[in-house]
Amino acid sequence: MAKRLTEMTTAAGWAAKIGPEDLDKILSKIPKNTDKRLLVGIETSDDAAVYKLDEDRALIQTLDFFTPVVDDPYIFGQIAAANALSDVYAMGGEPILAMNIVCFPACEDMEILGEILRGGYDKVKESGALLVGGHSVDDKEPKYGLSVTGIVHPDEVRANNKIREDELLILTKPLGTGIGNTALKAEILENEDYEEMVKVMVHLNKYAAQATKGFDVGGITDITGFGFLGHILEMAKGSNKSVEIYSENTPILKCAKEFAQMGILPQGMYKNKNHIGKEVSFSDSVEEYMRDIFFDPQTSGGLLISVKEEEAQKLCEKIIEKGGIEAKIIGRVMKKKESYIYVI
Ligand code: CO
Ligand code: CO
Repeated sequence: MAKRLTEMTTAAGWAAKIGPEDLDKILSKIPKNTDKRLLVGIETSDDAAVYKLDEDRALIQTLDFFTPVVDDPYIFGQIAAANALSDVYAMGGEPILAMNIVCFPACEDMEILGEILRGGYDKVKESGALLVGGHSVDDKEPKYGLSVTGIVHPDEVRANNKIREDELLILTKPLGTGIGNTALKAEILENEDYEEMVKVMVHLNKYAAQATKGFDVGGITDITGFGFLGHILEMAKGSNKSVEIYSENTPILKCAKEFAQMGILPQGMYKNKNHIGKEVSFSDSVEEYMRDIFFDPQTSGGLLISVKEEEAQKLCEKIIEKGGIEAKIIGRVMKKKESYIYVI
C-alpha cells in the first residue's frame, strides 16, 4: 500500500509553520517599504499586501502553502486552496488569479499529486478566480498551496488595524482544527469528527466576506497559524484597542474540546502560547483546556469580523443566508486597557 499523505510529513498543516518568535526576529532585519501606493504592507501583520493601482482599484497579493493535514489528496488540495484564498477575503477583496505552489516527492505516485491539484482547482473555480499556472519542486515532504492575486476598491480595504470601540466581533468557523489534525495524525480521530472538521476546512470564506457588503465593518482578519488569540492580538495592537472575548459563545469543534482535555495538542499551540500568552488576561472561570484551544493554530480557519454593535446580529444572519457555516458574536472591542485581550 502507498504511504499515507500525512505519514510523509513531520508536522501537519499550519502546525508546520515557523514560530512567531523566530519570524519576528528575522523580519525585523528586512528594510521597510515606504512607497505611498502600498496601502497595506508587512508592518501591520495583516493577511495580504494591498497596492493601489488607481482611484478605483487596488491589487491584493498573498500566498500560503503547507504540508498535508489529511490523507485524502483531493481534500488536502481543497483545504490548502481555501486557506490561501482566504487572505484575499480577509482584505475585503475578490480573488482573480491563482497559481499552484507544489512540492512533491518525484518517486511517489503522480496520481496523488494529480488529485491534490484537482482539489485546488475546484476551490479556485468556486472562488471565481482563474488558475493560471504554478511551480513545482521535487521535495521529500509534500506541500501545496497557492499564490493569489485579488482586487479591491481602495476605500473598501478591510485592514486588521481599524477596529473601533464598542464594535462586536463575529467568528465564522468553529475553532480546533489544529487539535483535530493532531488527533488525525495519531489515528485517534473518529470518522464523524473527521467529516465535521473537513467540512470546516474546505469551506471558502467567500460567503462570509460577501455577506459583509453594505455593513459598517471596522476590520476583518482570518484565523490561521497564530491561533484565535494571536490574530485577535494583531487586530487589537494594530488598532490600539483592547478586546473582550466571550469564551462560552465561541464556537469550537466537539472533538477539539475532548482532545484538548486529554492534552492532545499540536506543537504550534505551545509556540503561540509562549509567544503571546502574557498579553492575554483570562478570567479564573476559563478552564485550561479552553485556553489551549484559543492558542491552537488553525488550518483554513474562519473570518473574524469587527462590526458596529447594532448591525452585528443582522450580519450573523446574512452570513448564514449567503452560505456561511457559522456566525457567532464572540467578543467586543473596548478602549485600550492594561492587557490587549480579556477572555471571560
Ligand atoms: Co490571514
Ligand atoms: Co496568510
